[in-house]
Parts: sequence; C-alpha cells; structure tokens
Amino acid sequence: MSHGQHNMRVTIFGSGYVGLVTGACLAEAGNNVLCVDIDADKIERLQQGELPIYEPGLESLVKRGRQAGRLDFTTDAAAGVSHGLFQFISVGTPPEEDGSADLQHVLAVANSIGKHLNDYRIIVDKSTVPVGTADKVKTEIRRVLEQRGVQTEFDVVSNPEFLKEGAAVDDFMKPDRIIIGTDNPRTAELLRALYDPFTRSHDRAIVMDVRSAELTKYAANAMLATKISFMNELANLAECMGADIEHVRQGIGADPRIGYAFIYPGCGYGGSCFPKDVKALAASSSSAGYHSELLEAVENVNQRQKLVLFDKIKTYFNGQLRGKVIGLWGLSFKPNTDDMREASSRVLMEALWEAGCSVQAYDPVASAEAHRIYGERKDLTLCERAEEAVTGADALAILTEWQEFRSPDFELVKNSLRRPVIFDGRNLYDPSHMRSMGFDYFGIGRGDSIVAWGKSQSMDTKGK
Ligand SMILES: NC(=O)c1ccc[n+]([C@@H]2O[C@H](COP(=O)([O-])OP(=O)(O)OC[C@H]3O[C@@H](n4cnc5c(N)ncnc54)[C@H](O)[C@@H]3O)[C@@H](O)[C@H]2O)c1
Repeated sequence: MSHGQHNMRVTIFGSGYVGLVTGACLAEAGNNVLCVDIDADKIERLQQGELPIYEPGLESLVKRGRQAGRLDFTTDAAAGVSHGLFQFISVGTPPEEDGSADLQHVLAVANSIGKHLNDYRIIVDKSTVPVGTADKVKTEIRRVLEQRGVQTEFDVVSNPEFLKEGAAVDDFMKPDRIIIGTDNPRTAELLRALYDPFTRSHDRAIVMDVRSAELTKYAANAMLATKISFMNELANLAECMGADIEHVRQGIGADPRIGYAFIYPGCGYGGSCFPKDVKALAASSSSAGYHSELLEAVENVNQRQKLVLFDKIKTYFNGQLRGKVIGLWGLSFKPNTDDMREASSRVLMEALWEAGCSVQAYDPVASAEAHRIYGERKDLTLCERAEEAVTGADALAILTEWQEFRSPDFELVKNSLRRPVIFDGRNLYDPSHMRSMGFDYFGIGRGDSIVAWGKSQSMDTKGK
C-alpha cells in the first residue's frame, strides 16, 4: 500500500474550473502537476500567473504551486502524456442538440493519449460523462496504439468530481467522498494514495465498478436538481393557495429524513452542471430504452421557473414593458462565481429585451463575463455598484443571492428607484418588513401571487 506518498506525477487535460482546481490542489499536496489545455491564450495567461476564472482561494494556490515548481502549464499534449503516471481528463462535456453529452473533447484527449503513450499510465475520467464512456476512452486509445503498432498497458478509471463552483478549492481539499470506479485493485490503491492528503481524518474513498461510478455523478446532480424543482413546484402551489413557502420549507426541513439542505425555492437552477447533467441523464436513459418521467419533469419545471420573475414583472406593469428600465442584481448563476452558463439572469434579461425593456445590471464579479457574452448593447448597462443599477430604474429584480444583497440600504434603494418595487428571485427579504418600508415586494412562493398560474402565456412557451 502506497499511502503517504505525495510526490506523484500528474497530468491534467483541461484547465477549466475542474482541471485547474484539481491541478492546483494536487500540487499543493506535494505532487508534480502539468496542466494541458488546447486554449493557447488560457495557457499563456496561466503561465503569467493570471487566472482565467474567479474562484475563491485559487489564485494563491496556483501562485504557490508555480513558485514551488510543482505546477506548470502547457499546450503540448506529448509532454503531458510523458509527464504523469495519472492522466486526468477534465475537459468539458457540453450538451448536444438532443441533450446528450458531447464526448468529442473527452475522445480528443483519448486520441492524444493514444498518440503519445509509451509506458503504463492511469487515465482518470474526471469529466462528467455518461455510463460507458470509460469503455469508449479505452477503445479509442487502443485503436490509436494499434495504428502506431505500440503495445503498452494502461487503465481507465472513473473518478467523477463533486466540487461546487464558488467553494471549489474547499470542496477539493475536504471532499465528502472520492468515487473511484475501477475493477483493478492496484489502480484503486494508487488513486487512494493520491487523494490521501485530502482524506486524513477518515478514508473517504468509495471504490466501485466503472459504470456505477459514472452513474453516481449523474445521480447526485439529478437528485439535487430534483430537490430544487420540487421546491419550486411547491412554491408556485403556495402562491396559488395563499401559503408561504418559507414557512413550509422550515416545516419540512425539520424532518431529518428531509433536512434543510438544498430546499430553497427560487428562480430556477443554472450553471454548467445541473441543466446539462439532468438532460444528459434523460438522454442516456432514453437510449438505454428507459423513458424517465421524473427527469423530464425536473427539467421542465426548471425552464418554467426561470420565467417566473419575467411573468411577475409583466403582470405588475399590465403588460406595458416597452421602454421600462429594470435594475438587476446578480448575473452569475449562483454567488461566489462569475460563471453565467445557463444562469436565470440570462433568461430574464433576454425576455426583458424582447419585450422592449432595458437592463441596468450589477454583479460583484460577473460583469466582465456578461460583457463577453452580450458585448456592447444599448439595452444593457453593466454597473460598478449596486446603487447604480437601481438609479432611475422602474423596478429591481434580484437573481443571485450574493451576500452583499442581503441587507442593503433600503432607503437608498427606495429613493433611487422610480417605483419602489422589488422582484426577489431568491427570497432574501421578509415580505411584511418590505411592505412596512413602503415597497411593493414579490418573492417566490410567499403567499401572494400576481401571476395567474395556469393562464399565463410566457410560462407555456418553454425556454422563451
Ligand atoms: N464546473 C463545475 O462545477 C463542475 C463540477 C463537477 C464536474 N464538472 C465536470 O467537469 C468537466 C469540466 O468542466 P469545467 O467546468 O471545468 O469545464 P471548462 O469549460 O471550465 O474547462 C474545460 C477546459 O478543457 C479544455 N479542453 C477542451 N478540449 C481539450 C483537449 N482536447 N485537451 C486539453 N484541454 C481541452 C478547454 O479549453 C477548457 O479550458 C465537465 O464534464 C463538467 O460537467 C464540472
């Protein structure tokens, strides 16, 4: 058993949220890490110590790793393959048109590994990939090796990642569990040893067969997405029935079989994982001949939920949206990240623009990302301060529960808005307190509804 050996050589393909965090944390633990990416611009910035993403704690780890000579970046796949005993694949697996996971990047890495492999390597699938992908990676590497006439042993292991953006470094350093999917006990031991510095208090490795490991990742995300869609469904019901979902949440959370975690209602889930993973699992269940009723419903409820704020705004203004200015707080799909992939803010902004509104948006870190996505447009002003976003606006909409939005200067907000109305997609405030301060305040599932559930038009046009 090789526990305690922390100077292993590791190569990581893909320097995004997962690859970069994995690389920096493994280097911090004393390993020698080489990160490979095809994005030359990204690699150049990383070599200069500049981070391509915002993630708390990551910058100092990367800096330390580089200074210690344990973390380096390259675009050279051959150097990557020759460097590490472990070859992590942490490239993107975006959705195809039909929702299934696009494996082209994963298989491109497999192809590169096949082209340069000369000695035994452990290939570790860390990307979120459908059941059966490890077999495809193995087949691709074998095919290329055969073409080259090279014979060498290698293993393909599934080791899905569970880190959360915004707390990625912490999650990696203190994981709940390490899933290791392999039928080779020696490979399992080597991976355990690699993760040993992060699991010192007790062993958190759960070793299983490859297919179960691949499915575990989708199962976890689908379960979390289901919890959110369930609560959103109940929040909408609460609006129809005159109940307050926040009371209901506390009432059910007290049951230890349910618990308080992850049962917050809101304006829908986004990010690079839940939406795509729920769709990908639904797609792979269809291709396995099983129609999943539940996954489809989870996805549909979420799409509808992303339009709830728009419908409230539209109803409030009696459908007269043209020319209105909406102040928006929060662009990222959740706090502590600049990631706007599938963010609810995008669905709302796009619906508002289509209806002739303009948006004044503020986010503590995601403005640059919004600018990258939307560029310069007359109907979008990216503000540097929260107050600026409400100044002269007809309403304020809150999309992300950043800490700094929790107790703003309400007097200032009220005086800055043309009308004191707040549409709160994250239920940050107490409705009666807001009303006592003179606001028109609409949260999610707080007992009053201005949306005619069941009759609403935009709710029925999915994905608009
Ligand atoms: N972001 C998360 O919170 C998170 C959490 C758990 C799992 N995952 C999964 O991890 C995987 C990666 O996600 P991410 O958010 O880090 O993606 P990302 O888009 O941030 O990064 C992917 C990187 O891979 C690079 N790349 C693409 N093809 C390559 C190739 N052939 N060789 C080398 N590099 C290549 C891209 O240039 C990019 O830098 C996905 O499957 C995702 O579902 C993500």
